[in-house]
Amino acid sequence: MNVLVFSASPNHDGLTAACASAAVAGVRQAGGQAEHVPLNDLQIGMCQACNRGWGTCQQDHECQVEDGFQALHARTRQADAYVLVTPVYWGEMSESAKAFTDRLRRCEAVRRDESCLSGKPVIAVAAAGGSGNGTITCLFSMERWIQHLRGQVFDLVPVKRWTREHKLVAIREAARTMVQGETVSQGTSELNIHPTAEIHPTVLLEGKVTVGAYTKIDSGTIITGEVTIGHHTLIRCNVVIRGRNTIGSYTHIYDSVCIEGGRPAQVGSSMAAVPDRSIIGDDCWVNHGVTMHGTQLGDSAAVGLNACCDYNTRLGKGAVLANGSATHHDQVIPENCFAEGVPAQVVQEEITDEDRKRYFGLVPAMWTHYQGDQIEERIRQKQAQT
Ligand SMILES: Cc1cc2nc3c(=O)[nH]c(=O)nc-3n(C[C@H](O)[C@H](O)[C@H](O)COP(=O)(O)O)c2cc1C
Repeated sequence: MNVLVFSASPNHDGLTAACASAAVAGVRQAGGQAEHVPLNDLQIGMCQACNRGWGTCQQDHECQVEDGFQALHARTRQADAYVLVTPVYWGEMSESAKAFTDRLRRCEAVRRDESCLSGKPVIAVAAAGGSGNGTITCLFSMERWIQHLRGQVFDLVPVKRWTREHKLVAIREAARTMVQGETVSQGTSELNIHPTAEIHPTVLLEGKVTVGAYTKIDSGTIITGEVTIGHHTLIRCNVVIRGRNTIGSYTHIYDSVCIEGGRPAQVGSSMAAVPDRSIIGDDCWVNHGVTMHGTQLGDSAAVGLNACCDYNTRLGKGAVLANGSATHHDQVIPENCFAEGVPAQVVQEEITDEDRKRYFGLVPAMWTHYQGDQIEERIRQKQAQT
């Protein structure tokens, strides 16, 4: 996740700067990329309210006042999340914050759901002096700005000279959580669910479960054990995922699939070098009714309807196991091979996307990407409305 951290003070060593540094530290702690933008170092003038007040930006969504704004506008469009820190001046944002936020709002608010902030999380920080007077009105105007741009208010943090130390911790934690997702303890479970993930209320999550951004999990699914699921992944209804499992990004797992982590390597007849565990790569496609035990799928591998993978099955990158086929334990289907039958046998090597399309009617990895992006779009729209 790329996060822009705007700060809007003329002082490079004051409270505003300290708050921005705390936010940068939180983003980096969570593995995100943070870019600090000190607005006072840029030449960004005020909005000229051209076109008799309506602005040409209403049509073309670009500002005609040429200065440092254009480059920053482009960078803002690229980011995934934002932190805006301003000193409190007269109960309001500082002048540099106002100039930037006014012009961005002019260009983007009319775009509604197409706004560059739409559905993206934003943390607003108002850094005040000793009195703290006007912090709330300042945050109020920041919140309204975020809402005009259809951003998602992730947190609003007031800080003043006397609360500096614990609020710096709060800002760091807010930024870390925004990137990483919050860890919620439920009984003995530790759930780390990204705020943009969409999980149906009937889904049961138990154990240590991590779910990435824009992943969607549909009704009746049970996920229990130590399970990590990437971003933009789709898990349909009544799926059971149990044990130690890693599931990648942009992967699809369809209805009634059963995935089990497997059994220890030293016990029983499995030849696995490490304890069996399911590792499903990125862009994989696991079709309705599939059963998999301790199976590993390379990126873009596909498993057809009602297929079975016994313990320690390995499908290489881009491999396909045909509908209704079954592997025996420890079986390997190499990269880009097509295997079919019970027990499954490789019937074609070096398959291409044309072959995949002929068999499935689509190229699974392309479909999972297309759908993953569609789901992100729908989640963004929903979150912007709430
Ligand atoms: C023109 C001006 C107006 C200010 N107005 C307020 C105010 O309304 N409420 C407040 O608590 N502090 C106010 N302050 C104090 C600043 O918010 C405070 O010093 C802040 O920490 C400055 O950020 P910096 O350390 O990054 O410069 C004001 C400061 C200035 C220069």
